[in-house]
Amino acid sequence: MKFSPGSPLRGEITIPGDKSISHRSVMFGSIAKGTTEITGFLQGADCLSTIACFQKMGVDIENNQDRILVHGNGLHGLKAPQETLDCGNSGTTTRLLSGILAGQQFSAVLTGDASIQKRPMKRIIDPLSQMGASIQSIADNGCAPLNICGRQLHGIYYTSPVASAQVKSAILLAGLYADSETRVTEPCLSRNHSELMLRHFGADILTEENSATIYPPNELYACPIHVPGDISSAAFFLAAGLLIPHSEILIRHVGINPTRDGILTICRAMGGDIRLQNIQNTSGEAVADILVRHSSLHGTEIGGSIIPTLIDELPVLAMMACFAKGETIIRDAAELKVKESNRIAVMVQNLTAMGADVTETTDGMIIRGGKTLHGAVIDSHLDHRIAMTFAVAGLIAERETEVLGAECVTISYPNFYEDLRKLAEN
Ligand code: S3P
Repeated sequence: MKFSPGSPLRGEITIPGDKSISHRSVMFGSIAKGTTEITGFLQGADCLSTIACFQKMGVDIENNQDRILVHGNGLHGLKAPQETLDCGNSGTTTRLLSGILAGQQFSAVLTGDASIQKRPMKRIIDPLSQMGASIQSIADNGCAPLNICGRQLHGIYYTSPVASAQVKSAILLAGLYADSETRVTEPCLSRNHSELMLRHFGADILTEENSATIYPPNELYACPIHVPGDISSAAFFLAAGLLIPHSEILIRHVGINPTRDGILTICRAMGGDIRLQNIQNTSGEAVADILVRHSSLHGTEIGGSIIPTLIDELPVLAMMACFAKGETIIRDAAELKVKESNRIAVMVQNLTAMGADVTETTDGMIIRGGKTLHGAVIDSHLDHRIAMTFAVAGLIAERETEVLGAECVTISYPNFYEDLRKLAEN
């Protein structure tokens, strides 16, 4: 797909539901008693993989687009799947589902696409094994496909070496099935959607700074979930609004959970004109409308405990830094190397192809902004966030930018290009 500079982006947009919250609503609804009604669910390929996996374990899920009904089987009601569970491109599905499978009374094999089969699973295999689970990486390389034989689990106190909500959530979900409480402590607090939503479903979870403790319940109970817009998807419109002259965009109903809102802090630190309006709470999650206006940006430093709160936004922030005055340093972000692609290497390669001055470091990158970027052929590596980042870059850089594999946005934002075009037509 090709992109060239054009008109400013103006008007209002409601972006699709939060990917992390959508996954969890189906997973927790499936193991709860009763019917969970979900509105605002993200109809992206990753979340559809989660639905398909739970359907294969005997859960009746009605997908009526704007309303999902999950007729939960209760905590102990999942059935042995007759086939391999396919998690597609989704790390969240693979890791959280592993935590649930570890405590079942059956065995299952789960796998995913080429990218998933390269992503590290030892980070969940180790703690889940400590709880008594039997998990085998079939190719013995620490990656999916995984063969998981359910066992009676034991509660553990686990100190995670990485700040990862996927690791934390996998352990807490296994903790639902353990014989005593389970605590996860992480180096910095990662997104806390599991803790908030499990509490909504009736679980007893205690949170303190960077720790979460779950006390095994007899059951979880269905409750309505409204999924807010995904701040990680809103990020592309924040970037476009700030970078394209004369732009002004009102992004409606976006989740602004403090464990996810690091991009707002950094955009403001770079001089961005960003205002929150109409702040509310829905199903335990904070939401707001975000008004963004074109601004003149300057470089900043991004590192430390803010990293988990903007981990998925670092590609688009790196791109923004190329158009900002001065230097931007991204550090403490080695986790980027094990996302849907190696997002440090892929960003540096593609930004360099557009003429940016970027240096790769072991845990991030250094960007010297202010050089004029020109169009190039961009390899998305079939990573949705890379494709969307360079679609926006293509609206600012000189001449034409071609994004290869642009269709991979179906993972988290199927209508991204249409929404971008609509704002440009206003
Ligand atoms: C997610 C957590 C993050 C994030 C991913 C979604 C989640 O991964 O990058 O896109 O839904 O829990 P890690 O927790 O592994 O950093």
